[in-house]
Amino acid sequence: MSAAPAGFAALFAPYTLRSVTVPNRVWMAAMCQYSAEAVGPDAGVAQDWHFAHYAARAVGGAGLIIQEATAVSPEGRISPYDLGIWNDTQVEALRRITSFVKAQGVVPGIQIAHAGRKASTDRTWTGGAPLGPGEHGWQPVAPSAVPFAEGHPLPHELTVDEIHAITARFAAATERALTAGYEVVEIHGAHGYLIGEFLSPHSNKRTDEYGGSFENRTRFALEVVDAVRAVWPRELPLFFRISATDWLEEDGWTGDETVRLARLLQEHGVDLLDVSTGGLAPGVKIPVGPGYQVPFAARVKAETSLPVAAVGLITEPEQAEKILANGEADAVLLGRELLREPYWARRAAAELGAEVRTPAPYHRSW
Ligand SMILES: Cc1cc2nc3c(=O)[nH]c(=O)nc-3n(C[C@H](O)[C@H](O)[C@H](O)COP(=O)(O)O)c2cc1C
Repeated sequence: MSAAPAGFAALFAPYTLRSVTVPNRVWMAAMCQYSAEAVGPDAGVAQDWHFAHYAARAVGGAGLIIQEATAVSPEGRISPYDLGIWNDTQVEALRRITSFVKAQGVVPGIQIAHAGRKASTDRTWTGGAPLGPGEHGWQPVAPSAVPFAEGHPLPHELTVDEIHAITARFAAATERALTAGYEVVEIHGAHGYLIGEFLSPHSNKRTDEYGGSFENRTRFALEVVDAVRAVWPRELPLFFRISATDWLEEDGWTGDETVRLARLLQEHGVDLLDVSTGGLAPGVKIPVGPGYQVPFAARVKAETSLPVAAVGLITEPEQAEKILANGEADAVLLGRELLREPYWARRAAAELGAEVRTPAPYHRSW
C-alpha cells in the first residue's frame, strides 16, 4: 500500500454510504437533550434549544449529526421531555433543523428509539428517577415483567400483537423521518432500551418466539430493521446502534453474539453498526478509559464486512485519526466532547493539516 499523501487525514476523508456522501468521519453521537414539552400539543416537538444545539454542531464541521433518541411513540420516551416523531407537528419542527444542517453541507441523521423498561424517568439533571402517573409518567413496557433496577416500576410484558404494533411504529417513524428531511436513520438497539432488552437474556425471559435462543432474541431487532428498510429509500443509509456487551459476567449479551448479529443486520439492509456498550443492567463494572469501546467496533470490522463507527471517550484528533488509520473503524462518533466544544472538527482539521468547510460569513476568521 502506498503512503498517504502529505496532509492527508483519514478523519477528513469523505465517506459514501449508498447515495449519501458524508464530508468527513467526525460524527456527532446521539445525545438526548430532554428539552421538549412533556404534555400538550407541543409534546415531543423540537424547540429553539434543539435548533440552536444542532445548528452549532453543523456550523462546527461535524460530517454527520445523529440527532438524539427520538421516540417512535409517547410511551417509548426515556423521559416525558424527549423528542418524538409520532405526529406531523413534530415533523414540521424537525424539518427546520434538517434544512439548516443540510445547508451547511452536513448530513442530518436521526436515532429512532423506544425506551422499553427504562422509559418514564425524570431528566438526568434532576436525578433521572422513575416518574409516576402524577408526574407525567406511565407504566413502561418490556419483553418480560422484570424491572430495570430496584425502585423502578414493574414493566408490562408485551404481547406478540403489541410487539408487532411497536414494529409498525418504527416504520411510521421512519416515513416521518424521510418527510422531515433526514438522510440517515439509526435504529437504537443499544443501552438497554427496548430492542436491547429483547437481545439480552438478562432482560428477556420470554418462552415464545421472541425469547430464549439467539434466533428468538434477535427476532424483534431484525423485524424492526425489515420494517424500517421497507419504507426507507434504497439510496439512503440505515445504521443500527448496538451495545456490544452488557458487561455482565453471566446471562448478558456478548461480543460473539454482536458479531453474529452484525452479519445478519447487513443481510437485512443495515449499512453501518454504531458500536457502543452497556446500559442494560445497573451496577456493572466498566473499564472506562480513552477509546474503551473501540476494540468492540474493531472486532466487528475485522470479523464481518459491515462498516462500523466507534464511540466512547474519543476526544483527541490524533487518537481519532489513529482509530481510522489502523482500520479499527470507518468513522468516529463524538458525544460529550462535542457538547464541550462544538467546533472540535475545526480544531482537529487544523491540527491534522486538513480542511473542513467554513461557512462564508466566517471566512475571515479561518
Ligand atoms: C447527555 C447525553 C445524552 C445521551 N443520549 C443518548 C441518546 O439519545 N442515544 C444514544 O444512543 N446514546 C446517548 N448517549 C450516549 C452517547 O451517544 C455516547 O455513546 C456516549 O456519551 C459516549 O461517548 P462520549 O465519550 O464521546 O461522550 C448520551 C450521552 C450523553 C452524555
